[in-house]
Amino acid sequence: MAARIRAAVVGSTGYGGVDLLRLLRRHPHVEVTSVISSSSAGQDISGGYPHLADIYEGTLDPVDVDLIRQKADVVFAATPSGASSELVPAFLDAGLKVIDLSGDFRLKSGALYEKWYRKKPADEKYLVRAVYGLCEVFGDEVKGSDFVSNPGCYPTAALLGLIPAVKAGWVDPETIIIDAKSGVSGAGRSLSLTVHYSEINENFKAYRVNSHQHTPEIEMALEKATGATVPVTFTPHLVPMTRGILCTMYARLKEHRTEQDFIDLYREFYRGRPFVRIRGRGVWPATKEVWGSNYCDIGFSVDERTHRVTILSVIDNLVKGAAGQAVQNLNLMMGWDESAGLELVPVYP
Ligand SMILES: NC(=O)c1ccc[n+]([C@@H]2O[C@H](COP(=O)([O-])OP(=O)(O)OC[C@H]3O[C@@H](n4cnc5c(N)ncnc54)[C@H](OP(=O)(O)O)[C@@H]3O)[C@@H](O)[C@H]2O)c1
Repeated sequence: MAARIRAAVVGSTGYGGVDLLRLLRRHPHVEVTSVISSSSAGQDISGGYPHLADIYEGTLDPVDVDLIRQKADVVFAATPSGASSELVPAFLDAGLKVIDLSGDFRLKSGALYEKWYRKKPADEKYLVRAVYGLCEVFGDEVKGSDFVSNPGCYPTAALLGLIPAVKAGWVDPETIIIDAKSGVSGAGRSLSLTVHYSEINENFKAYRVNSHQHTPEIEMALEKATGATVPVTFTPHLVPMTRGILCTMYARLKEHRTEQDFIDLYREFYRGRPFVRIRGRGVWPATKEVWGSNYCDIGFSVDERTHRVTILSVIDNLVKGAAGQAVQNLNLMMGWDESAGLELVPVYP
């Protein structure tokens, strides 16, 4: 068997980082050789996460490019937007392969990034170099690349649900509405009033309506995949659950189509792709059906009365929406089986 590739995880004390540690542990071609923390270097890995006791041992490494270069071949940057743009160029310049989970390299325009993220954009030469790693759509670009920008959680669910219909010309792109709901782990581990138990429990609320930073990412990738300039209405909501995203998406049909037409179109589009599952007629996916797994499940309803299609897609935000897709991208970069380390049966109930 070929030698395993050595991986470092930066931001390992965050939710994305810790799910990477979970997934990489059972990856047949990867060994995690450096678990990195900017705030807790020198402390036991399992200190903040007792569930990792006896699974990952040793202490956390600091963010030190020379050390990472000695210990690893690939770096997963599970760091916040604004931090990745500072860290990732140094990793790339040191010759490391990088998969970045933040939003810092997804948009190709620095000005657009600044407008939506209200932060200084990364240097343009790195923006241009990053491959947008929506595996099922742009996977050919990921193969052999050394720098992947992992898609956002909402964009992953929305784009996998929308691209086949928009590309086929079956829906009017001007009419797309994405009504999205996410569990609170989407906001990461750091504390804030929004995710305070008594603020979110038994509550259900919209946030950043028409101003969420994933809006231009969805529009950019839809245009790249379909050629259509697609202004989307995107409303994210927070739901009092830990993991999961459900996108309910509406669009007007350009011509008569049935649910079975959609099912056939999507099954053909995602043929051979192990992580997208298309539901049969009248069966709509739920977040729990993908919990802890790398699946994106998609279902449809066509309303003959309003001539609209409703497309529903679900993912686990931390797996297909973050760590799982990052591992899937590594698999594509390295030319391995796309499913390596990701054959996870959803946890149910
Ligand atoms: N949560 C999701 O569902 C999700 C989905 C898709 C994408 N993402 C993206 O993935 C990234 C990580 O998300 P998350 O949910 O894991 O966030 P998180 O729980 O807040 O963790 C981020 C970690 O990054 C590290 N960090 C913070 N500032 C840093 C800096 N200046 N330099 C180096 N490390 C720093 C921190 O760990 P240390 O203090 O140990 O260094 C922190 O625990 C974010 O960019 C997020 O937008 C998240």
